[in-house]
Amino acid sequence: MSSVTVIDHPLVQHKLTLMRNKNTSTGNFRKLATEISMLLGYEVTRDLPLNYEEIETPLTSMKAPVLEGKKVVLVSILRAGNGFLDGMLNIIPSARVGHVGLYRDPKTLGAIEYYLKLPKEFTDRDAIVVDPMLATGNSAVAAVNRIKQAKPKSIKFVCLLAAPEGIKHFHEQHADVPVYTAAIDDHLNDHGYIVPGLGDAGDRLFGTR
Ligand code: URA
Repeated sequence: MSSVTVIDHPLVQHKLTLMRNKNTSTGNFRKLATEISMLLGYEVTRDLPLNYEEIETPLTSMKAPVLEGKKVVLVSILRAGNGFLDGMLNIIPSARVGHVGLYRDPKTLGAIEYYLKLPKEFTDRDAIVVDPMLATGNSAVAAVNRIKQAKPKSIKFVCLLAAPEGIKHFHEQHADVPVYTAAIDDHLNDHGYIVPGLGDAGDRLFGTR
């Protein structure tokens, strides 16, 4: 049942390479994160259901497709997930936005929650969880545990890079949540960083290093 989709579109792959390059500046990295998240968002929303509504064009009337159901909820795993919000909101401007704040205990690499704000009416909405890096999977598992308590209609997880270990751990806990990523890298190092990876996504987005 667990599914992983690697979005291998050439534009995504090219932008990912620029983001991996350690010489890419903070400003360019942030810009690329916005661009790539628009492309990932396009793929992830491919199966959103449509309804048909009667509208008038300047020439005639027609039944035209519109998105069905309640607004999508984007959930950003702080802080790096915020680097994906601008791009995703560019293509789904009416989405609701939730935030889950988690940090990694540097010793245990376990996820510790420090913030949670989700839209009140989550039932019947599709949730798209964003975090550029699926590394150990601990944050993703903890965030989705929380989101499931709010009983959304569906959940998808979108990242830029995933480690095989992270996908395995995530799907052991949440086999029903499909993962979308631009690449699956080789492994995690002893500090829980994805190799070859792109370094610390939060630091590269926000210039904090
Ligand atoms: N988080 C990051 O920002 N980078 C990694 O490689 C792993 C987790």
